[in-house]
Amino acid sequence: MDIFQDDFVKNGKHTRWVSLNKTNPFAFAFDYHFWHDKIDLKLNNKLKKLLLKKKQYNINNKNYIDQTIDNTYWITNNIFKLKDVEIKTLKKEIKKILNNFFKQVGFETNENIYIQGWPSVLKKDQYHKEHFHEAHRFSFISGNIMLTDNKTTTDYYIYPRSCQFGYYKCENSPGSITLFSSYISHKVDKINDEFRMSLGFNLYTQTALNYYNETKQNQDLLSPINYSVKL
Ligand SMILES: [Fe+2]
Repeated sequence: MDIFQDDFVKNGKHTRWVSLNKTNPFAFAFDYHFWHDKIDLKLNNKLKKLLLKKKQYNINNKNYIDQTIDNTYWITNNIFKLKDVEIKTLKKEIKKILNNFFKQVGFETNENIYIQGWPSVLKKDQYHKEHFHEAHRFSFISGNIMLTDNKTTTDYYIYPRSCQFGYYKCENSPGSITLFSSYISHKVDKINDEFRMSLGFNLYTQTALNYYNETKQNQDLLSPINYSVKL
């Protein structure tokens, strides 16, 4: 048996592990969604160029922020706040891909969607340790877009199958975009190249943002949702 057997569903760009109809109260319930798509390559290259002009994301600049050391970088650096045309186009592209995803899974919503995202930069021998973005009753969808050409994979942990059958390994290529349920943990192993750049992002519903704002006094202000903007 491997990770792709039993309750594994693949339908075009949609990959899902889902347990349906628990047969007893002790049975395990799970539902992991992935959507694999592509953004326009020209846009991908323009985005890479735009981000490399910014000193904090360019490894050759002395003011570059090493996010493997600075652990609030991914929260506070919302690139979707930028007014550049590339970012506006990317937002539209993500919206379009998200709507295709929703359509295929039969999810309908009139809610505004919010986004928060950051350039994810690795240098030779660096890696992203296993982590998840959001895991609570308002957690929604996260994503990543590969900007550079590296032969790397993003490895998703399909609990608890991965414990015995390994990670769900997704190959990255320029412009590849993966959307996934925000609570799914994932990692990127140590890279051999000099440089790897992707974009990580989180999506939130209006309901989640309202809840966060109404209960702000009990919330951590250093939360990614607090930095999100309308998609
Ligand atoms: Fe991540």
